[in-house]
Amino acid sequence: MLGIDIGTTGVKAIAVGARGDAVGRAERGYPLSTPRPGWVEQDPEDWWAATRAAIAELGPLDIVGIGLSGQMHGLVVLDAAGAIVRPAILWNDQRTAVECTEIEERIGLDRLIALTGQRALTGFTAPKLLWLRRHEPDTYRRIARIMLPKDYVRLRLTGAWATDVADASGTLLLDVARRSWSHEILDALELDPAILPPLLESPEVSGTTLDCDALPQGIPVAAGAGDCAAAAVGVGIDRPGGLSLGLGTGGIVFAALPSFASDPQARIHTFCHAMPGQWHTMGVTQSAGGSLRWLRDRLAPETAFADLVAEAEAWPPGVSGLLFAPYLAGERTPHADPSARAAFTGLEFRHDRGALVRAVLEGVAFGLRDSLELVRGLGGPTEYARASGGGARGLWLLIIASVLGLPIELTAVEEGSAFGAALLGGVAGGMFASVPAAVDSCVRVRATVEPDVAWQAVYEETYVRFRALYPALALVKE
Ligand code: XUL
Repeated sequence: MLGIDIGTTGVKAIAVGARGDAVGRAERGYPLSTPRPGWVEQDPEDWWAATRAAIAELGPLDIVGIGLSGQMHGLVVLDAAGAIVRPAILWNDQRTAVECTEIEERIGLDRLIALTGQRALTGFTAPKLLWLRRHEPDTYRRIARIMLPKDYVRLRLTGAWATDVADASGTLLLDVARRSWSHEILDALELDPAILPPLLESPEVSGTTLDCDALPQGIPVAAGAGDCAAAAVGVGIDRPGGLSLGLGTGGIVFAALPSFASDPQARIHTFCHAMPGQWHTMGVTQSAGGSLRWLRDRLAPETAFADLVAEAEAWPPGVSGLLFAPYLAGERTPHADPSARAAFTGLEFRHDRGALVRAVLEGVAFGLRDSLELVRGLGGPTEYARASGGGARGLWLLIIASVLGLPIELTAVEEGSAFGAALLGGVAGGMFASVPAAVDSCVRVRATVEPDVAWQAVYEETYVRFRALYPALALVKE
């Protein structure tokens, strides 16, 4: 099985054997462009070039099925001849505040939440289309087809234009409960349904590989999923059970739901899961690993992350009153506020660099706790968590386990999204009868991090103080 994850900074490809062993791994980076403050774009052809290079690096393999996963919410626009009309606008682009207000006004906030399970957030796909219509009318007029980032790679790989309901849930154009495009929303926003790709469930075959230098022709390619749902499959949260915790640039708290349920205020997302006929809820801490990277890049660019974390270990939990609110790029869950800003509070002369690092690690964990509380409110099962992503290690994991009050399991293969995509590819290729069968054969727990009981007591008190921080950090306008 081959899994391909089109990430924000690069592509990861992983080849997986029938019992779930990773037999090959390759990565390729690509640039991000920020033509103006708050804008984040990428060239879809860079994704394809990097994917081909990563597959070529894996070498010749006997592949049964391929799965795709990728950064969600991005807008790729093609004209009638299949040419890319402009660079893709990504999930972390913040240009669409006006269009978000317009969408909530046109549809009505309660109706929008009832149909999509979310409110209009700047990173989602629909407001980007409205932004193009307003600011780049010539570009907008040329649009014949839109798609999400991984779906552009599918188009190049197979010639098929399609998406899956899990990734489509982040467009704000999907009726999430019905798992179909919402004609009510399309009508209200005056968008042409013909520009939207056909919808599939994640393990369904979307097409087969074309003749391309890196791969033989005719291999089935699964519809796949957005990176969060794919990561959940990759750590075995394909069904209600535990939480999938994603610790990358952003932090994800994800639970499969026993049935469709959404927060009446949409403080947390409800999306279709990569498992046919199931849904999931998900909270997003916008700057998780991103907060630590910011601190390192600004204060200690020469210092390795491991050394900074070692300095943080010298401080006790709660860092003698020092708190960090991780809203460096606004916050999604629970505040849905792109204008929120970050803060350190409670500084004293004694606090040093290690103290700041520990406060950042703890502040991100409190942000994840906010999501956990909302997951619990929706009836998501939360007795244990399984972590994936670059931040899932060492002191940070112990802090998160203690702040959440949950054991955190680590699985044998750490590339959650690419691995989950590979398992979906395995189902599409007929190696497994279903997603649960693939998970049961391939996902193994290798270690568990238990919460520290003494830390937990400190964090319960500190969390109350953390909750009180946000109102003062809201709506700080530039
Ligand atoms: C999920 C989200 C990010 C992106 C990029 O809603 O915005 O996780 O998918 O990874």
